Amino acid sequence: MRKFKRAIVKTPILGRVLLIIFRTKTAMGYFPRQLSNSVKWLFKSKEITNYTYDLEENNKRYLASLIADIANIQFSVAMAYIKEIEQDGELRKHIADATEKSDLAFIADKEVRFGRRIGWYALTRALKPKTVIESGVDKGLGSCVLTAALKRNKEEGHEGRYYGTDIDPKAGYLLSGDYANYGCILYGDSIESLKKFDGIIDLFISDADHSAVYEAEEYKTIANKLSERAIVLGDNSHGTDKLLEFSLETNRHFIFFQEKPLEHWYPGGGIGISFKR
Ligand SMILES: C[S@@+](CC[C@H](N)C(=O)[O-])C[C@H]1O[C@@H](n2cnc3c(N)ncnc32)[C@H](O)[C@@H]1O
Repeated sequence: MRKFKRAIVKTPILGRVLLIIFRTKTAMGYFPRQLSNSVKWLFKSKEITNYTYDLEENNKRYLASLIADIANIQFSVAMAYIKEIEQDGELRKHIADATEKSDLAFIADKEVRFGRRIGWYALTRALKPKTVIESGVDKGLGSCVLTAALKRNKEEGHEGRYYGTDIDPKAGYLLSGDYANYGCILYGDSIESLKKFDGIIDLFISDADHSAVYEAEEYKTIANKLSERAIVLGDNSHGTDKLLEFSLETNRHFIFFQEKPLEHWYPGGGIGISFKR
């Protein structure tokens, strides 16, 4: 390396070329894994949007640690909630069966993967919210994750209800069977549904229209409907700073969790978390 550095200094033009070759090799070293993940995905998955994947093991532990801090619980308890959803055979079977029966099965995978939603689950289990709203439902994977958490909370004596909002009348087909007993979907424009909602919100997840303006408008709409210790999650915080802005304006804390998908080409989204101490 020392000789290489000396050659670069002594022969500026050749040195510059050598440096470019050396640096190209370093940068290109990151591509083969992504390429191999992309090729595997092309043949194994049928998804065209709202991709699903598992998280890397350490990424889950970082998420558990972050949730433990926010919810004031032990790391081991947060980790146990994550294990709980991962090992929930009834939930997995429900999602796999409903996916197979749906009209959109040709662009959906039978294998169930929750990604960052395991964080939504763990927070719902830890905080026992009475009212959870998820704006933007799509197939209803988040709806199932959240109602599964509310179902467990009820078994422990803490009742809660889930509301999803979606503009697509076909959204939410996974929210069926026993899970539908824990919530419902409000169809129509999310902001209009949120304006009409007259309850107190303990947990709000923004995942509808991902434009910055719309996301900010959602936070503005729910601001006065939040309970004292309510948590607001932004599923678009890797794309916009609107939840951070909202948190600064309303004197709330903000933390961002970056997810690391396991063996997937997608670089990962994240969870923006806005909360009060
Ligand atoms: C990213 S997907 C939601 C994913 C879902 N939260 C999950 O966990 O899989 C976004 C959803 O927002 C819905 N959407 C887009 N614009 C909307 C709006 N203005 N009002 C309500 N829903 C909207 C879309 O129909 C789509 O189903």
